[in-house]
Amino acid sequence: MTSSAVASGGAMSMPRPARSRRSNLAVPGSSPKMLDKARGLPADQVFMDIEDAVAPLAKPEARKNIVAALNEGGYDGKVRAVRVNDWTTQWTYADVVEVVEGAGPNLDCIMLPKVQTADQIVALDLLLTQIEKSNGFEVGRIGIEAQIENAMGLINVDAIAAASPRVETIIFGPADFMASINMKSLVVGEQPPGYDVGDAYHYILMRILMAARAHDKLAIDGPYLAIKDVDGYRRVASRSAALGFDGKWVLHPGQVEAANEVYSPRQEDYDQAELILDAYAHYTSAEGGAKGAVMLGDEMIDEASRKMALVVAAKGRAAGMSRTTAFSPPD
Ligand code: GLV
Ligand code: MG
Repeated sequence: MTSSAVASGGAMSMPRPARSRRSNLAVPGSSPKMLDKARGLPADQVFMDIEDAVAPLAKPEARKNIVAALNEGGYDGKVRAVRVNDWTTQWTYADVVEVVEGAGPNLDCIMLPKVQTADQIVALDLLLTQIEKSNGFEVGRIGIEAQIENAMGLINVDAIAAASPRVETIIFGPADFMASINMKSLVVGEQPPGYDVGDAYHYILMRILMAARAHDKLAIDGPYLAIKDVDGYRRVASRSAALGFDGKWVLHPGQVEAANEVYSPRQEDYDQAELILDAYAHYTSAEGGAKGAVMLGDEMIDEASRKMALVVAAKGRAAGMSRTTAFSPPD
């Protein structure tokens, strides 16, 4: 957020909690049954939807169901988010006011879809700040998740990521995105027929990833709509995971395990990362000889190796992994 926006009432900078978001489960707010079922699923994040999964006539009821579910609790260990409607509709302010006033302390993030400009993030930040102040909630605690779903949003993604300290994630919304750029495909997640020279989503994914990394946010991949095709889900998820994405949406309980697995490091990579960190800490210390580059097995490690290892170790730790090997310095 710009300093003038802070001066005019947005959230002041505060450290955001590190949260694992390998699997981001979409739950329509219109379904109390699904809101309840989500409690027992091993998803890192649950987001309760008032946007495209809920018909216009059902939106008022969905807000109420969501407030009731959040206040009843039972989502322990999960990030609790609510997706409101975007700022071009007539519903956004009422979604935010009703949900945050009704369940603010039991809510972690508001997800804003179809974000096109940084101003739209600033507007949400200002509204959240007022609600928090007037209800005596901790100011700035509720985060923002920004969905990039059209060309304008992608062009402005850098400013969107930097628009408020509340922003925690930048999310790719492939279905709306494909429609917005006239991509000739109806199968979300798969390549458009006729494009056979690469990955049609590569530029979009990389653009989002760069903005997220430049501003220290998580990058989240969007839905895969063929919910029964778990192998297809795994294949598509593996691509964004390989680039560096932190997680992906899940639309069905059957996709949760696949997401948790694909966006966690493999056990052997996690073990190796922890080993590199320990070995590097030892060898760079006075006790270990204050060396900058050393051999670990067949591999030379240096400061850049430490940084790479830190990424894998951090993902593994956030996912609750335990190491199965230990570093022992030579005598
Ligand atoms: C998700 O909101 C999408 O449009 O893909
Ligand atoms: Mg969408």
